[in-house]
Amino acid sequence: MEYRDAVKEDIQVCSLVVQPREKQPRKDFRNAPKHYCHRGVRNVVDNAERSGKCILLDPTIASPTCSSVKDLPDSVKAALIGLDVSQCAVVSNYTIHLTYENFTMPELLKKVLPQGLVALSGFEQVGHIAHVNLHSGHLPFKHIIGQVVLDTNRTVLTVVNKIDSISSVFREFKMEVIAGVDKLDAVVKQNGFVFHVPYDKVYWNSRLGEEHHRLVSMMAPGDELFDVMAGIGPFAVPAAAAGVKVFANDLNPASVAALNQNATANGVKLTSFNMDGREFIDNVLRTQHLEVSTLPSNRRHISMNLPALAVAFLDSFTRPSWRSGRVIDRHPVVHCYTFSADEDVKKDAVRQVEAVLGVSLDGFLEHVQDVRDVAPTKQMVCVSFRLPDAITEATVKAPVKRQREV
Ligand SMILES: C[S@@+](CC[C@H](N)C(=O)[O-])C[C@H]1O[C@@H](n2cnc3c(N)ncnc32)[C@H](O)[C@@H]1O
Repeated sequence: MEYRDAVKEDIQVCSLVVQPREKQPRKDFRNAPKHYCHRGVRNVVDNAERSGKCILLDPTIASPTCSSVKDLPDSVKAALIGLDVSQCAVVSNYTIHLTYENFTMPELLKKVLPQGLVALSGFEQVGHIAHVNLHSGHLPFKHIIGQVVLDTNRTVLTVVNKIDSISSVFREFKMEVIAGVDKLDAVVKQNGFVFHVPYDKVYWNSRLGEEHHRLVSMMAPGDELFDVMAGIGPFAVPAAAAGVKVFANDLNPASVAALNQNATANGVKLTSFNMDGREFIDNVLRTQHLEVSTLPSNRRHISMNLPALAVAFLDSFTRPSWRSGRVIDRHPVVHCYTFSADEDVKKDAVRQVEAVLGVSLDGFLEHVQDVRDVAPTKQMVCVSFRLPDAITEATVKAPVKRQREV
């Protein structure tokens, strides 16, 4: 391939020809400093012309034009004393032939892409899939970039590029395969659980593993979890495995199919739903559970992980039906995710929740977690609170007595 040949390079280095003590272990040479160091290049090689070994020296330390031991820098001479070679007399020039296989991914990309092009910022890996976000300037070279990623990362079999920055309802993104096999069903492990991820159809973010673990660790066996935007189950499956009774919902049918597959794959039982989050909160959570509650308060958790929008879904709790007086468990714990770019992200996140609920969280706030940076000035935050009294207080007023007409 043309681009593979284009990166070939010959490097001239200074080589120190040494006659080692008999049976001197190779590691003695390997530990000697000032060696030439490059991926896939041996820096102690057999001397082709005479007996002994050639120690290849780093050209930034010993000039390739150096022709005798006395011309070597003191630091190299000092290292030779520690090396314990019986004879060390000859210095010669040596040519290292570097090929495609000798370079790392950033080195190759720098070599194959035109100068001045923004460097690739790396990639996110989901199972066998490497996901890159290419800049418009990269696009004419997308297949070469993909091939370099593939060639330099053994566990990557497919490289995809995000092709649409528009946020979709299901939070999946459009992608094209730019190298490798066209297989977008990945299998990932997180916190000891295995997840099947149809990557082009559902949302998945490997960077949320710690958060998934944190939230589930707030629940005890016998608790109930209502996962309103469950995705493929990174909260729901571990919670079910921890003895929590799980009711997991998602609007995306592909997510629900993967969620069920993941429950089976991990040997756990949960009840799944495919409906809009508001409908789930009102019809499943409220009418089938909070109004017929047999659980002590605080043992029901409601997770709402759709950061940009989840707060808006809190209006479900402000519908008149919640104030009918029928709700028995009035204080389930809600874990609502949001984004904030405010100076005080935690305060702002609480403010966002209060603004939609229309009541203060004073006395009902359990915890506010700074989850992760999503942009240099934007954080993902999780607000955990018990549903405030004001939400479920019956507002059915005493009937107004009619004035008798006279
Ligand atoms: C950011 S993802 C989070 C998924 C999962 N909780 C996780 O951590 O991987 C948000 C999820 O909300 C789902 N979703 C979007 N709109 C929804 C709605 N109106 N009702 C329920 N789920 C919705 C999406 O399909 C997506 O799976």
